[in-house]
Amino acid sequence: MQNELLNWFYQNKRDLPWRRGRSPYRVWVSEIMLQQTQVKTVIPYYKKWIKKYPTLKSFKESNFDDVIKIWEGLGYYSRCKNMFNAAKLIKSSFPNDYEDLIKLPGIGDYTAKTILALAFKKKFVGVDTNLERIGYRILGLKTKTKRNHKRVIRFLEENQCNKNPGDYNEALMDLGGSLCKAGITYCNQCPLKNICKAYAYSSPTSYPTPKVSKKISIYDVAISVVEYQNKVLIMKRKNTKFLSGLWEFPGGKIENNETAVQAIIRELKEETNLTISNPVFLGNITHKYSHFGVNISLFISSPKSIKSINIDQEYKWIKMNNILNYPLPKANHKILDFLKKLD
Ligand code: ADE
Repeated sequence: MQNELLNWFYQNKRDLPWRRGRSPYRVWVSEIMLQQTQVKTVIPYYKKWIKKYPTLKSFKESNFDDVIKIWEGLGYYSRCKNMFNAAKLIKSSFPNDYEDLIKLPGIGDYTAKTILALAFKKKFVGVDTNLERIGYRILGLKTKTKRNHKRVIRFLEENQCNKNPGDYNEALMDLGGSLCKAGITYCNQCPLKNICKAYAYSSPTSYPTPKVSKKISIYDVAISVVEYQNKVLIMKRKNTKFLSGLWEFPGGKIENNETAVQAIIRELKEETNLTISNPVFLGNITHKYSHFGVNISLFISSPKSIKSINIDQEYKWIKMNNILNYPLPKANHKILDFLKKLD
């Protein structure tokens, strides 16, 4: 797992200001800012902070009014107060031991382990929601329980890298933030797809089972971009309750006791009388409409021949770059955005 993950990371890692020199102080500042806050929001705050307080020593000599001025607008101000208090408690150099770190205000289990891995190259893993999700998916675990959580942690720790624990940790953070997101996955680009059970089941967004909203039902569906001679198949929805008259890629509901691959082969046969043999799973896309949601397992497939085609509704073979001439349901726009990212 490590090699594939790290190679992917070295080719795809985000160039973030706190990655240019991982001193314990810099890692600490960035990790505290990144709690409950998105990367793109944090970047300008982090830069301003490091400009004003480039070292722990300079920060220790600060006064709180100046410090909070820099934090202004970032929210969750207790983080800033905790940092200020923590800095005063650090006597000489930055603690490099788990027990000492978690004694500091604002540093919990995740932050302590992340600092140890990133700044001290120790074999710890800071497991945030991104890493947790990746673990559930690789292990094919659906239900969120304490026991499963422990299995995930153990798995991620057992695979931690001796040489570059920080890179391993940040690689998983980046994977969770780019390819293996909660509601959308770009599985065919993922360096870990070959060991991922959720990928093998072609339904990674079902791992772990998302919290269901009580009001609306979520349907698991399998959809395929069907390509033939540089054109793709789109079909017009009949007069149905939902999304009537809009165009979409073919596919349909995954039945109980059926895999997504079996579903797409069956649906294409039933809806179009086309036979596809090797649909390639591209990833998952979720979307919620007002009255229901869809969890799409997206495939690409190419029938050998289209002679047998027989479709009981309006359909067209079109060039992909003409697709926006047709009205599409929102979920299909998400599919297009997804496909654009693959190019
Ligand atoms: N989120 C939390 N820590 C991060 C890091 N070091 N890099 C990117 N995203 C993060």
